[in-house]
Amino acid sequence: MAKIISGKDVAEKILTTNIKPKVDDLKLKGVIPTLVVILVGDVQASASYVRQKEKFAAKAGIKSEVRKFSETVPEQEVLDEIIKINKDSDLHGIIVQLPLPDHISVTKILNSIDPSKDVDGFTPTNVGKLFLGEETLVSCTPKGIMLLLESVNTDLKGKNVTVIGRSNIVGKPVSILCQQKHATVTMCHSRTKDLTAKLSDADVIIVAVGVPKFIHGDQIPMGSIVIDVGIHNVDGKLCGDVDFESAQNKVSAITPVPGGVGPMTVCALIENTVIAAERLSNKN
Ligand code: GUN
Repeated sequence: MAKIISGKDVAEKILTTNIKPKVDDLKLKGVIPTLVVILVGDVQASASYVRQKEKFAAKAGIKSEVRKFSETVPEQEVLDEIIKINKDSDLHGIIVQLPLPDHISVTKILNSIDPSKDVDGFTPTNVGKLFLGEETLVSCTPKGIMLLLESVNTDLKGKNVTVIGRSNIVGKPVSILCQQKHATVTMCHSRTKDLTAKLSDADVIIVAVGVPKFIHGDQIPMGSIVIDVGIHNVDGKLCGDVDFESAQNKVSAITPVPGGVGPMTVCALIENTVIAAERLSNKN
C-alpha cells in the first residue's frame, strides 16, 4: 500500500516543533514577526491562497496584513508600496501574490523587494544565493517539497530525482535543492520527448508542469516517491498534475491533491517570515 504523504500533518508538526518556539522567543524580545501580502486584482485562486496564508500565520501567532490593489492600479503605486514596506522595521516579510495583471512587470516588482524581506525567495539576489549554495530565504514550494521528502526519511544521496516542469517558482529551484542533497537530477518539461523513458529509473518524481493528470501510473516506476505540485479544478473536482488513481498502485509514497504540497508552501512561507524576523531583529 502506498503511503499518502499528508502535507497538512507535516505542516502542523513543523508549526508546533519549529515555528511556534521561534515565534515565542521573538515575542519575548518584543518582536512580532509580521508578513505583508500584496494582492492585485481579483484572481479567485490568489484570494484563496492568500486566505490560507493568513490562517496559518494566525495559527503561528504571527501578524499578517493584506494590502489590496485594484486590477488597474498603476505599476508605480505598487512599487511605492513595496519601497514603504522595505523601510518599515516593524515589517519582516513581503510577498506579492502572482500572477499580476499584464501591465505590471513581475521583474520590476520582484527587483524592488528588499532581499532580506523576500520571504518568497523570488528576488534575483536570493535566487542567485540559492544557485551558489549560500544561506538564503528559499522559495516556499521547493522548500516545502524538501520538507515533505524529509518527513518520509528520504535520503536523496545518490538517488535519481526527475523533475517535470522548469518554472522559476518550482522546477528550477527544487532541482538545485535536490542536487545540494547529492541527488542526480533529470529535468523534463511538457515538450520532453519520451517522458516515460526519462522516468524509468527515477527514485523520486516531482511533477510541477501545470497540466491536469499529465503523468499516469503506467509511466511511473514501481516503488518510487511522487510529489504532485499541481492543483486544478476539473469539472468541480480538484486534481493534480498526476493521475492519483493509477499512480497510487505503483508508488511507495505519494502526495495527495489537495492536502499535499499546498499546505507545505504556506508553512514554508510562515517559517521564512520567522527566519527573516530573526535575522532582521539581530541586525538592529
Ligand atoms: N502564485 C502561485 N504560487 C505563488 C507563490 O508561491 N508565491 C506568490 N507570491 N505567488 C504565487
